[in-house]
Amino acid sequence: MKKTICIVGALVAVGLQACKSVQQKGIDLTVKPGAIWQDTNQEVINAHGGGLLKRGKNYYWYGEIRGKSASEGVSVYSSKDLIHWENKGVALAKSKDSTSEIAVGGLMERPKVIFNEKTNKYVMWFHLELPRQGYKAARAGIAVSDNPTGPFTYLKSFRPNGNMSRDMTLFVDDDGSAYHIYSSRENYDLRVVKLTADYLDVTKEDTLLFSKHREAPAIFKKDGKYFLITSGCTGWDPNAATLHSANSIFGPWKLEGDPMRGPMAEKTFDGQSTYILTVDSKKNQYIFMADRWKPKDLKDSRYLWLPISFENGIPLVQWQNEWKIK
Ligand code: DGJ
Repeated sequence: MKKTICIVGALVAVGLQACKSVQQKGIDLTVKPGAIWQDTNQEVINAHGGGLLKRGKNYYWYGEIRGKSASEGVSVYSSKDLIHWENKGVALAKSKDSTSEIAVGGLMERPKVIFNEKTNKYVMWFHLELPRQGYKAARAGIAVSDNPTGPFTYLKSFRPNGNMSRDMTLFVDDDGSAYHIYSSRENYDLRVVKLTADYLDVTKEDTLLFSKHREAPAIFKKDGKYFLITSGCTGWDPNAATLHSANSIFGPWKLEGDPMRGPMAEKTFDGQSTYILTVDSKKNQYIFMADRWKPKDLKDSRYLWLPISFENGIPLVQWQNEWKIK
């Protein structure tokens, strides 16, 4: 009798084990662009205008924490599979000191974080607007941390080489040089400036990319070529994206047209670019990331993540209701 119970017990244990490993293998890696996306605590992810950073096996997602309209700092989430995100809290908090440049009432938009191999520091740049001035200040803000999840320490803000700086992104090239790409001159100009070796400041290598009234820059590099997706300037409302390509980050940049394909492609699927993640360049895996803004409730703005495909070497973003991370 005892023997039978034992055998049954062992079979149940083996069965449970098998079941567990099937579940593990069967982790759902489906992306549903535009759907509500919850973190591992079942809270809706609050990381708008965001950017990603990979360190080791972990991805970090930094973004704007938004209330109904307020800008409430920068959040950070972590994930190993790009689908299940754990909230790691506030990476950069608003200051309680009302005289601070990052006091409540101002704006921190489009935060991007890069890692500096020489200093071992995580460096965050973002679009900073000072309290009670709307979008007048047009400055780049910089913060730094020893850890990817922060807390980041706010350092300073400025206009790169005196140029207005609103929507922006960061890009680290193969040789470790980093660049800040930014909308300038009331957003009529898109510029790029090379950062100093510690990534905490700008150099004088600061060039106009084009004057086409574009914002929301998102860039990646493939086989030595740079690709840049931008939006038009219509506030929170969607518009048509364009793709430019170049052999040097300083240009010349060639217009390749609108890379979006599918329903609402001419309005970037009701979204606006924010970042392009290189998942695996050898396997041609890149993810285009955009925000579907909800100006009446910015916190509820949705995320559009879509894979980039290539046609004759030119990137395209085909709408899909859902797709799987490979
Ligand atoms: C468009 C920008 O891309 C957003 O980041 C934000 O600044 C809105 N304009 C505000 O209208």
